[in-house]
Amino acid sequence: MKKFSVLFDGVVSTTKEAVKKIAHNKHTLSLVDQPRHDDLYIVSFPKSGATWMDFLMANIHTTMSGDKRSINFFNIHTIIPDVHYCRQVGVANLAFPGFRVIKSHAEFNRYYKNVVYLIRDPRDAMVSYYKFLVGLGQFSGTVSDLIRSPRYGIDAWVNHVDSWYFKSEASLRITIVRYEDLKNDSYSALKHLYNTLGFEISDEVLNLAIQKSSFDNMKILEKAWNYGGRPVAENFKFMQKGVSGSWNEILSENDHAYICKASEKILLEFGYAK
Ligand code: A3P
Repeated sequence: MKKFSVLFDGVVSTTKEAVKKIAHNKHTLSLVDQPRHDDLYIVSFPKSGATWMDFLMANIHTTMSGDKRSINFFNIHTIIPDVHYCRQVGVANLAFPGFRVIKSHAEFNRYYKNVVYLIRDPRDAMVSYYKFLVGLGQFSGTVSDLIRSPRYGIDAWVNHVDSWYFKSEASLRITIVRYEDLKNDSYSALKHLYNTLGFEISDEVLNLAIQKSSFDNMKILEKAWNYGGRPVAENFKFMQKGVSGSWNEILSENDHAYICKASEKILLEFGYAK
């Protein structure tokens, strides 16, 4: 009997260790090397406008730092590294803001202490994600299949927003930016964001960044980049439409109802319920 209980204890503690390791792994997989307390993460569910936000912020930061580099799809990750592509980030490489700014699509990660969370109407995000994944050859079903997919669909979107907005820890410093507000009035959305971060940015710097990161300008930059030579479908475009509400042309009533039912609480909270 004694022997059994020793064995049993051992099994329990080994299992506990394994669970601890898995939980730790979940967080460290989406961390850059040597996380710092002042790292700022730009976090979003895919297709919420993160690349646009990266360009806007990178343009503001280079101008404020007197760095003459022109931001494009080749160098954006050297200024705002993406955890899904690079772990080796090193020290902050611009005088302004003086801390590292990092892009991530991770769900809540308790090692991210400062977060700008970008949210977009899930109906637009789903349609954008569908076209994107099909264009890259990473998804072959219909848009209805995608919104019902646990990995890419509305449940994944709900879990993402939930994890950052409703279930995150009280110590997290988080600023929410809606894609739609950025689109309607980029100047006010950015002014508000930087004020929240503790910076006053001149109108001249803000307007220059907005102009350099305009949809039309980024489309030209996308063409020059040509996806770094990666194979994509013939009509694939990363910069598809860059608008709000075009889900109407793609989603059936049934798909729309499915998305709304799954995300009802969040649609209401963020003013997307209509
Ligand atoms: P659409 O596919 O609806 O056009 P992410 O960078 O998170 O993957 O988001 C991509 C979406 O942001 C795409 O949406 C893309 O067109 C849009 N986007 C990128 N740059 C933009 C800009 N300058 N203005 C408006 N939307 C932009």
